[in-house]
Amino acid sequence: MGNRSKKIDFNKKYLDMKEIVTKQKSLLKDTEKLLNKQIEMEGKSSAYYLSMASWCEMKGYENSAEFLYRHSEEERMHMLKLIRYVNEAGGHALQPEIIGIKHSFETLREVFEQVLDHEIAVTISINHLVDHCFGQKDFATFQFLQWYVKEQREEETLARRALELFDIIGEGGIGLWTIDQEIVKLEGKVSAAQSMGEGK
Ligand code: FEO
Repeated sequence: MGNRSKKIDFNKKYLDMKEIVTKQKSLLKDTEKLLNKQIEMEGKSSAYYLSMASWCEMKGYENSAEFLYRHSEEERMHMLKLIRYVNEAGGHALQPEIIGIKHSFETLREVFEQVLDHEIAVTISINHLVDHCFGQKDFATFQFLQWYVKEQREEETLARRALELFDIIGEGGIGLWTIDQEIVKLEGKVSAAQSMGEGK
């Protein structure tokens, strides 16, 4: 057997083994599925934060509303970045169907408790995805996802700091008004602290 046919046999064996790695598509089916689940999660985050922003605005928490409107946009950007990556890798990114978004909240504290719970769930999902890609030796997707690992670190810290304001300031008297003022200042502080931690 010549070298060329040996090489073809090897490629064929490899492609059969990996099932869907072809010239058109560099993503494994499982990876594509997990990325689509992440797309759905980011889309839900965007819708969820939009709903929270609207509730805050309706209740007069203007700064919290701005903070959440902005975060809703950011989550949409996270979703788009994933959609573009999946399609670029030859997969098919699916527009998620988003239903069941909560519209009402008891208190402002409840809003931020749910932001933190949600961000922790997103971090767990990203970590699972990263672990999967490493296990599959899909280093391109692994590297692409590092941006999300870093982003989640910042978003989780931000949500935690926002929730801490309720304990530090207290909700009585002008407490809620003050919390609403302080929430918008957090973003700059958290990203500056993380940049310092990274020696930037
Ligand atoms: Fe994109 Fe905050 O999850």
